[in-house]
Amino acid sequence: MKTLVIYYLPREESRTKKLLNLFLEIGKFNNFDYLDLNNENIKPLKLNDLIKRDNYIMNNDFSDPMFNYAKEFIKYDNIIIACPFWDLSFPSIIKIYIENICVNNLTFKYVNDRPCGLSKFKNFYFLTTAGGPINENNSASTYLKEISEFLGNGNFHFFYIDKLDIEGININNLFKEKEEELKKYFN
Ligand SMILES: Cc1cc2nc3c(=O)[nH]c(=O)nc-3n(C[C@H](O)[C@H](O)[C@H](O)COP(=O)(O)O)c2cc1C
Repeated sequence: MKTLVIYYLPREESRTKKLLNLFLEIGKFNNFDYLDLNNENIKPLKLNDLIKRDNYIMNNDFSDPMFNYAKEFIKYDNIIIACPFWDLSFPSIIKIYIENICVNNLTFKYVNDRPCGLSKFKNFYFLTTAGGPINENNSASTYLKEISEFLGNGNFHFFYIDKLDIEGININNLFKEKEEELKKYFN
């Protein structure tokens, strides 16, 4: 089982990184590749990219480097996206990554007017931490669940620790509770 860990954790002392490491350890993920979006020269799609991209897709030619993220994405059994919760959602670079992997006839296709995911992942995990309170169905997790259904047939899972920036909160306790939850989940 191969896992792709896509992350954007720009802060040195990132709490989401701590959650990710706990998750990888308890879940015994040992065959994984990392994609650190902080080190990628990843760009939003502009007019020229769209024209180029449509032309390649029409010719069923996915050899251009613009398709590299999508070609990598479809290969993995598990997908993990880890990032902090920003402005009621995920950081914009995650959306840019998604723009780059949603490619007609590569990661999805339309069958009888309905999208059908072509990616092979069995599990799509979204991990985040938030300063304030959030819940299961926030805009980030709701959207990423839809994207997982659009690109594949695997299961979507969401793990988070919230309220980390609330004064007086015991951060160690929150991590301990999450550790116990993850141990039960993976048992
Ligand atoms: C730019 C920015 C936007 C944020 N927006 C929110 C938000 O909308 N809701 C929230 O609960 N916390 C928000 N926070 C707080 C972070 O979610 C919280 O501190 C998180 O644990 C940071 O993760 P990290 O330690 O991995 O960087 C924001 C923090 C930053 C820097």
